[in-house]
Amino acid sequence: MQTLTDRFGRVHDYLRISVTDRCNLRCLYCMPEEGVEFAPSSDLLRYDDIVEVVQTAAKLGITKLRITGGEPLVRPDLSSLVARLSAIDGIRDISLTTNGVLLAPQAQALRDAGVNRVNISLDTLDPTRFKFIARRGDLRRVMEGIEAAARVGFSPIKLNCVLLKGVNEDEILSFLRMSAEQPLHVRFIEYMPIGHADEGWRKHYLPLSRVLEIAEEAGFAVSPKHDIKGNGPSEDYLIDGGAGSFGLIHPISDHFCKNCNRLRLTSDGGLKPCLYWVDELNVKPALGDPEAMHDLFMRALDLKPLNHEMAAKLANQELSHEPTARRMSQIGG
Ligand code: GTP
Ligand code: 5AD
Ligand code: SF4
Repeated sequence: MQTLTDRFGRVHDYLRISVTDRCNLRCLYCMPEEGVEFAPSSDLLRYDDIVEVVQTAAKLGITKLRITGGEPLVRPDLSSLVARLSAIDGIRDISLTTNGVLLAPQAQALRDAGVNRVNISLDTLDPTRFKFIARRGDLRRVMEGIEAAARVGFSPIKLNCVLLKGVNEDEILSFLRMSAEQPLHVRFIEYMPIGHADEGWRKHYLPLSRVLEIAEEAGFAVSPKHDIKGNGPSEDYLIDGGAGSFGLIHPISDHFCKNCNRLRLTSDGGLKPCLYWVDELNVKPALGDPEAMHDLFMRALDLKPLNHEMAAKLANQELSHEPTARRMSQIGG
């Protein structure tokens, strides 16, 4: 069988599919308070189109899918798409990244349709701070989403916490305790400069070495954990005797590009070899033509760079080419 192997020998078996650039929150690390101009609905790939792209991708060795947004649960009838994707030959793992606000009422239908796992954003445990970070919505809804995820049997349940210097770093210990006391996998994430003004990013960027320091100061015995189900870049740990576990996603302080296994599809049809760079290929002209779609995947692989250069950006060094102007919500993380 053909594989999606790039110029650097990396095999790609994971496709992240953004189904919308819209979102019901305005997280400060992702969007400006006033929001961004959303793509008109007519620009979005239809579910039929996404199924078609995945049919080709699966023939080329993609076995794992992650549905992202914006916020994927604002797109109507998402579970019908999941059901169609899970019926495609070769697709073995479908997961979802969500802010959790709309998860509780949809959790069972998504599970029944074939979602195995969910990753839920949770940047704070404080309702007032939630309003500051997410600017909209209600922490209670997210907590209900996490409870519903457990009830319907998603496993593992991962919580994504983007660490922001001066905003939520004082909650690292609470999140570590949460991972010790509850069967949840808490992931701390470094704030990345994806398509936004540098100012906010430089001010709030925090390297994740802080997390292990705080665990040590608290007297936790921490050891690496290698059996957390996942397809992404997280480096995982267990606090001795803990009910759950925690992970570190540190694209900037120690990038993981040499193990990259993923491509991305934006909601308006951009096939992106790397989250960071401007390069993307439009799948729309290849719809209805499996051979052209196949060639497009191969061209995307050829465009795939060895790594991003966020650390160089932090150090104000010149970059080798142009970073994307798209925001995280327009790519899907
Ligand atoms: P698992 O399958 O559970 O491991 O999922 P995941 O970690 O791949 O997905 P998720 O959507 O939860 O992403 C968590 C964080 O990792 C987000 O901040 C993503 O933007 C970031 N991330 C995922 N893939 C990449 C990548 O290839 N490069 C960079 N720089 N960040 C990534
Ligand atoms: N840096 C790091 N993570 C981010 N996310 C969104 N924007 C950023 C950023 N600038 C995270 C969200 C979500 C996932 C898709 O990406 O919190 O969990
Ligand atoms: Fe929405 Fe996710 Fe961006 Fe927050 S990070 S505004 S939840 S797309």
